[in-house]
Amino acid sequence: MSLEFGKMDLPPRPELFDFHGVSMTHYFTDSWENVQNFKARPDDILIATYPKGGTTWVSYILDLLYFAKTSPERQTSIPIYDRVPFLELYIPSVFSGKDLVEGLSTSPRLIKTHFPVQFVPKSFWDQNCKIVYVARNAKDNMVSYFHFDTMNQIEPDPGDWSSYFRRFMEGKIVYGSWYDHVNGWWKKKQTYSNLHYMFFEDMVEDTEREINKLCSFLGLSLSAEEKRQISGGVQFDNMKNNNMANYSTNPVMDFKISPFMRKGKVGDWKNHFTVAQNEEFDEDYKKKMKDPSLQFRTEI
Ligand code: A3P
Repeated sequence: MSLEFGKMDLPPRPELFDFHGVSMTHYFTDSWENVQNFKARPDDILIATYPKGGTTWVSYILDLLYFAKTSPERQTSIPIYDRVPFLELYIPSVFSGKDLVEGLSTSPRLIKTHFPVQFVPKSFWDQNCKIVYVARNAKDNMVSYFHFDTMNQIEPDPGDWSSYFRRFMEGKIVYGSWYDHVNGWWKKKQTYSNLHYMFFEDMVEDTEREINKLCSFLGLSLSAEEKRQISGGVQFDNMKNNNMANYSTNPVMDFKISPFMRKGKVGDWKNHFTVAQNEEFDEDYKKKMKDPSLQFRTEI
C-alpha cells in the first residue's frame, strides 16, 4: 500500500495521547502489536531519528550507497518514502509501513522509524541489525518540527510558535521528548555496537566526511568518485528539486503552507527564538541534558 489518497479524503488532525509514557498519535500506535512482532532480517538496516532530525537526508544517502549503481531506475521512479518505508506509520485502508517493508524486494531492506529506543521491535536487537541514528540540535529540530506540523495534515495542530515552544520543552508533541529520545539512543550506543550515531550538523558541515564514516560502518567500499557523486547529489538544493526525494508527491503535506525541504540550515532557530525564549530554553536544557558526552552544536 502506498500513500495514495486525495486531499479531500483527509481525516481531521489527530489528538495527542500518552502511550507508555510517550506522547503519540494513533497513526503510530494503531498497529503496535503488529509492528512489535515485526520479523527483522540480519541484513535489515534501521534508520532511526526524532522527527525532523535528518531522516530523509540519511535515507536517501543510504539508498544511493546501496542501490545507485545496481538499480538506477529507482532514482526516477520511486519516492524515498516508498524506498525506505516508515515502519510504524499506519493509516487504515491507505497505508501500512510494515506491509510496505515486507513487500520490499531489495536487499538490504532500509527501514525508517521515529521510535524512541525502548519502542524498537525486539527482533532488530535479536538479529543484531545495523542501525543508523541521526540527531539534530534541539533548537533547529524544534523550528523544523513546528513548520512541519503546520503543513502536515496527519500531525496534531501545532498552535502558535510560543505554545509550540513550550510543548516541545515538555515533550508534548508526537514521539514525545526530544531530550529523552536523543539521550535514550545515545545510551544504547554504549552497549549495542551496531549503532552508528550521527549528527545533522556534521552532515551540513562536511557531507562527504560523514558518507565516508557511514561506508566504514556499513562495510561498503565505494570509489572516492562514487562517494563524491553521491555527496553532490544529496546537497540541499539538489534534494529540494528532486521529486523523488522532496515529498512533493505526498498527499498529506501542503507545500503552500511550508515545503518539506524548507531551509536545511544549522542556526535557523535564531530567526524564531526571542531572546527571552532562548534564555528560558538554555536554562531548561541544562537540567535535562546531564550527560557531558552528548554534545550538540546550534551553529557551525
Ligand atoms: P528544515 O525544516 O530545517 O529545512 P526529516 O527528514 O527528519 O523530516 O528532516 C527534515 C529536515 O531536514 C528539514 O529541515 C529539511 O530541509 C532537512 N533536510 C533534508 N534534506 C536535506 C539536505 N540534503 N541538506 C540539508 N538539510 C536537509
